[in-house]
Parts: sequence; structure tokens; C-alpha cells
Amino acid sequence: METVVSGIRPTGKLHLGNYFGAVKNFLKMQKEYNCYFFIADYHSLTTHPTPGDLHGNVKQVLAEYLACGLDPEAATIYIQSDVPEVAELTLLMNMNAYLGELERTTSFKDKARKQPENVNAGLLTYPVLMAADILIHRAAKVPVGKDQEQNLEMTRKFAGRFNRIYNQEYFNIPQSFNYGEELVKIPGLDGSGKMGKSEGNGLYLADDEKTIRKKVMKAVTDQGPTEPNSVMPEPVRNLYTLLEVVSTPDTVEYFTEKFNSCEIRYGDLKKQLAEDIVKFNAPLRERILDISADAAYLQKVVNMGKEKAQASAAKTVKEVREIIGFKPF
Ligand code: TRP
Repeated sequence: METVVSGIRPTGKLHLGNYFGAVKNFLKMQKEYNCYFFIADYHSLTTHPTPGDLHGNVKQVLAEYLACGLDPEAATIYIQSDVPEVAELTLLMNMNAYLGELERTTSFKDKARKQPENVNAGLLTYPVLMAADILIHRAAKVPVGKDQEQNLEMTRKFAGRFNRIYNQEYFNIPQSFNYGEELVKIPGLDGSGKMGKSEGNGLYLADDEKTIRKKVMKAVTDQGPTEPNSVMPEPVRNLYTLLEVVSTPDTVEYFTEKFNSCEIRYGDLKKQLAEDIVKFNAPLRERILDISADAAYLQKVVNMGKEKAQASAAKTVKEVREIIGFKPF
């Protein structure tokens, strides 16, 4: 079975866009591949060297993914910093990563611009740490979004270079991977494209009923159609896209007809949408709360993940050491 590796940033809570994107992918992949999913807490230090509540953030993200159905029996779910072998592989890979290529990566340049007071070496070598995450399990596939493609390209470069330098086909050259075409793109509530973390745009799985209603009622619309069967403007189409995800086909049809005959009242549409999102979220939210409160379960999951991930990581580091030429006396 092919190995898949993916890292999860321990920042922010999951929103519906994440749920119908990355999370859905993970749920499929864990059944079909040998999956390693980890929370990238080392990485988070590159931008937040003194995080307010590192542990709390990691715990929240872990609880949310578990609540969505990530299965610690099927996949290896672990915390990056629980596997310090990753740090050793990073150090070894750093010897064959060049300053010029690291400085040229888009994400480094972006972050250096955003945090000019903290252009640290970790930021520069972020792609090396990410390569170590992937190569430590000798992954064949990595599910990445557009924003991570360049980092994965760097991983391929480092893997190929290692193989060439030490004259061995040791690392797989990992391929990017997604079920992209099958996924619905979840729009935001502010009239723009994708659901994200920005203010007034995202609906979080952990949001309570009142918050969901308030956000949906504030969603951007317009004055309404003036001619039958007119083209839906983007903000309105976005609400229908959300409706299609959380409501019944009958409901979608009802409101589509109302739009097409110019009888639509956006207030009614939003009320229905809010109720259906509340219904959709309720069981997830409850599970998030239950799991977050279950310290013993979380500890069990983390320990199990650590053990499985460490077994795989230690084997790679041992072999890499041998390949490079470290020998016991
Ligand atoms: N850089 C990724 C992100 O920002 C997170 C990440 C770290 C990752 N290591 C990884 C993703 C390894 C895939 C594989 O989202």
C-alpha cells in the first residue's frame, strides 16, 4: 500500500470549507492508503516563536479532526514534535539545501515581507523541514493545495538530490495528490470566492447556533433579481452553493424557483440556510466538545500515533545515517 503524508497547521479552527476539502480527502485516503497525518507544531514556530497557547491549539486541531472521523486505527495520527527524528533528518537534509533556492521560494519571500522583524533561519529552511516530514516515511503521495505546490516541488528536488549525491535510489519522489475534481468548493459569506478565516467569511464547525445564525443573516446579497431566470450574482450563488451542501434537494429546488420567478426573499433563504447549517454542524460540534474534554482518549490517540510514527521515522533515520556514512565504533 502506498504511503501518504500530510501535515496540518495548528492554527485556527476547522470551517466548512476545510471540512468539505482537506478533511473529506483525509477520510477517503485513510481507507485506501497507509496514511500519516500529523500536526505541524514545529512549523508553527517559524511564524509564532512564542505561541500563546501552543498546546491548546494542537489539542483543538486534533480534537476537531478526530471529531470529523479521522481514525487513529486506520491512519497514523501524531504530533510532529513527538517525533524528534524529523529534526535530525532536517539537519541532515539541510546540508544539501542551498541558500539561493531557499531564498527564492515564494512562501519565504512572502513571510519575510510580512514579518521583517523575524526573518529567522527556520523560516528559510521551512521547505527542508517539510521535506523531512514527507521523506521520513518515504511517502509516495502528498495531498497539497495550490499554496503548497512549490514546497512539494522542493521536497522532490531534495529527495532526488539526496539519491544522486549518495548514489542510491533511496527516497521516493513524492507526487502531489488530491481528489480535487470531486470536491465542492465552499464559498464564503462575504460575497467573495472561497471560505477562509477572514472576518465574516467563515463558518466554523465549533460555532454555536447563535453564531451561525448571526453570520448567515449578515451574508452579502443584493436587491434581488428583476427579471425572471436572470444570472445569479456571485454572492447569491454562493448562498445557493452552501444550501446545496447542507439542505435537501427539495429545499434547493424551492428556493431556486423563487429566485427564477423573482419572488425570492433573501431573509427567508438565509433563515433556512442557517437552520440547515445548524443541523449539519450540531453532531460535529458535540463530538468536538466531547473529544476535547476527554483527556484520556486524546492521550491514548497521541501515544499510539507517536509510537507508530516513531517506528517508521527511526528506521529511515537509521538508514539515512548509514547511507551518508555514519558508522558505529
Ligand atoms: N506547509 C503545510 C501548510 O502550511 C503544512 C505541512 C508541513 C505539510 N509539513 C507537511 C503538508 C508535509 C504536507 C506534508 O499547510
